[in-house]
Amino acid sequence: MMIEGSPMTVARLSMLVCCAAGALRSEPVSFNRDIRPVMSDTCFRCHGPDKSSRMANMRLDLRDEAIKPLRNGKIPIVPGNPDQSEIIARIFSNDGRKMPPDFSHKTLTEKQKQTVRRWVAEGAKYEGHWAYQPVRRPEPPAAGNPVDAFINARLAREGLKMSAEADRRTLLRRASFDLTGLPPTPEDAAAFQNDQSPDAWSKVVDRLMASPHYAEKQAMHWLDAIRYADSAGFHGDNLWPAWPYRDYVLRALRDNKPFDEFTREQIAGDLIPNATLDQKIASAYNRMNRYSAEGGLQPKEYLAKYGADRVRTLSATWLGSTMGCAECHDHKFDPFTSKDFYSMKAFFADIKETA
Ligand code: HEC
Ligand code: HEC
Repeated sequence: MMIEGSPMTVARLSMLVCCAAGALRSEPVSFNRDIRPVMSDTCFRCHGPDKSSRMANMRLDLRDEAIKPLRNGKIPIVPGNPDQSEIIARIFSNDGRKMPPDFSHKTLTEKQKQTVRRWVAEGAKYEGHWAYQPVRRPEPPAAGNPVDAFINARLAREGLKMSAEADRRTLLRRASFDLTGLPPTPEDAAAFQNDQSPDAWSKVVDRLMASPHYAEKQAMHWLDAIRYADSAGFHGDNLWPAWPYRDYVLRALRDNKPFDEFTREQIAGDLIPNATLDQKIASAYNRMNRYSAEGGLQPKEYLAKYGADRVRTLSATWLGSTMGCAECHDHKFDPFTSKDFYSMKAFFADIKETA
């Protein structure tokens, strides 16, 4: 028996089968984790959100559509009944009816087929895009640090264990780089080595999070996400100093400004009644896209580019969605249309700018 080129002993194989089956039994299939990525890769191109590339007049990305009878009387998905579901017949078929079809150059593994079957058997529950699910606080599976508890529960399911705790010097280096972007000083390292109190680690983390470098590190990620630069980006990349906005972000993160305020001030700070100077500066977020000052450009083309950039950045940063694909066609894998794209762009149409 060869699996991925290496000979497997019967004992090891039966262990794998036993544990895979155990993992399968213990937890229901999750649409967002187990099904959407598979269908998005192998079905949605032809049975998904984009009506111009849809085939067989059938879409599988929406439950209401997928459970209703087709014109030929067949039903793509009968929740709870895989044997009556046409998608199951098709994905297990070995003849010309096989889905995905050969001309798509996509295939499903045996495991993926079984997972889809089990999902249908369990009621074919769909879930919305993860970014739009209400935040829930799941019960940690055990006492202690909840992050460890979740990780340990999953590791146990996979038959794995945590690595041993790293030595103090390594732990401090990791925490320092992670929270401040900087290495610890020799004094910090010695202090942590010598601190025998039971909350030595919490003290380190609190100290790092109180450091101004913590806000700088967080700001770095935020400024990347909203495509901050002190230059125009196109052509000669002329200077475009924007540091007052950068300093606003630094102050906001240092002072732990609530995220709703942080959002409102950046997206529309200048429209807040009696906006403060700080709120107006925050709205410079809207001017962080690339700008051109080239003499020969077509103004309308560049205004369109700026608007599209704003939609892409806003959706990726705040909505956790790459809407950028819908600039040119309905999204092939997620329910965003080009109309959605340009409707969102319209919110920014009153920005007074010339190309
Ligand atoms: C590259 C395009 C393409 C992909 C990808 C694709 N299909 Fe299809 N599908 C078709 C076409 C074309 C038909 C109509 C011809 C036929 O019935 O075989 C069809 C028909 C079907 C039907 C029968 C509909 C009816 O009217 O009876 C089902 C069910 C189906 N597909 C399921 C799937 C599933 C599930 C996937 C993903 C695992 C998938 N398809 C991937 C092109 C595709
Ligand atoms: C700048 C315009 C533009 C952007 C942005 C864009 N596309 Fe496209 N896309 C096109 C064009 C043009 C075609 C070809 C359309 C055709 O020939 O039917 C195409 C075709 C496709 C196809 C093949 C469609 C089919 O039915 O065979 C897929 C899949 C696709 N795009 C996915 C995406 C994804 C995913 C994104 C975002 C990551 C994206 N596109 C962003 C312009 C764009």
